[in-house]
Order: sequence, then structure tokens, then C-alpha cells
Amino acid sequence: MSTYPDEGEARTAMVRFAASLFQRGYAVGTAGNISVRLEDGYLITPTNSSLGFLDPARLSRLDAAFRPVAGDPPSKEVFMHRAFYETRPEAGAVVHLHSTMATAVAALEGVDPLAPIPPITPYFVMRIGRRLPLLPYFAPGDPAMGAAIAEAARGARAVLLANHGPVVSGKTLADAVAAAEELEEAAKLFLLLRGSAYRTLGVAEIAELERRFGG
Ligand code: 13P
Repeated sequence: MSTYPDEGEARTAMVRFAASLFQRGYAVGTAGNISVRLEDGYLITPTNSSLGFLDPARLSRLDAAFRPVAGDPPSKEVFMHRAFYETRPEAGAVVHLHSTMATAVAALEGVDPLAPIPPITPYFVMRIGRRLPLLPYFAPGDPAMGAAIAEAARGARAVLLANHGPVVSGKTLADAVAAAEELEEAAKLFLLLRGSAYRTLGVAEIAELERRFGG
């Protein structure tokens, strides 16, 4: 199971990655939330906090049963993060964003609900994988989202929530952030290419990436 053994390092990493995402426009206002798995619980960003201006000492500390034990009140999306940790033992971090292009795809009609963004680039396949389930719309903080995400996360490292945005897991926070960034870039490419004839990676090319870089 992936965990951060040093809570102080985990706090510093969360603040740095969150600020980096905010400064580059992946998160605006108070949108988005980030969590990491510790040996005996979790850290998650506080509700209504800006990812640009987090205080490491005020991050929400949860116990192993996801109950808040210290820090500011946790993100209303604890259910979303919990679903990944409980379903995917290798997940050490979860990143949820409302990043513009991925959220635009999440509002399109008629996309493939198992692969709403086609395999256009190798890094999208390597970081996100073959499946990116598009889940129905849930209001932010709706606990019903937890069961839907848990079901989808059995076969996927990331999901896209209709009209809301992506949720991405990774072994480490660096992995989850890099995957969320690749997802946003792939969404941008897909939207740029819509209406044009374009090439996607083929089945054999995807299998080769999985063989070389892990599936
Ligand atoms: P929180 O401020 O409660 O983390 O919610 C932000 C968000 O991104 C809702 O989806």
C-alpha cells in the first residue's frame, strides 16, 4: 500500500503541489482538493480553501476511518477521495480539479462513457491508462458519489465527473499531479481536434506502452 511515512514531508508536498497547480491555472477560486495517505490516516485540503494559499499546519488530518481529528474542517469531497483509497491499495494520493478542458469534455454530449478522451498521446495512456470512466453528474459533496466512484475505480486510475471535473489517483502525489496535468492536456488536444480527421494510437501501440511502462 502506498503511504507517506513522514507527515511533515507530506504536508510540505501538498502545499507545494497545490500552489503549483493554482499558479498555472489548473485550479481557480476555491475549486479542487488534494489528499495523501499516511500510515495511520490521511491529509486532505480544508473545505473552501484556495489551493494557492494553503497553510501546512491547517491541513485537515483524518484518521484511518476518514474521521477528522485535527486541522481545519475537511473538503466536502472526502467521499470522492475515500472511494479511491478503499478501492485502489496502490493509491497514495488523490487530486480533484475543475480544470477547464477536462471539465468541458465532461459536459459534452455523445462521448464514449468509458473513454471520453481518446488515446491521442502516449503520455495520456501511460499516466491515465485505457479507461477514464465518465460518471453521471453529482452535486459537489454528494455522498452518493462515493459508491459510483468506488465501482468505477476498480478498473481505472482516474474518473471524470459529468459537468464537474476529473478525479485522479497516483502512487505518490507527484504521480497524481502529473497524471491530472496530462489528462488536462489530452482534453485540450481532443477539443482542438474535434471536427478534424485525426489519428489515435492503435491497439498494438497502446499494448506496447502498457508493456514498457506498466498498464
Ligand atoms: P471543497 O472546498 O469542499 O474541497 O470543495 C471544492 C470542490 O472542488 C468541490 O468539488
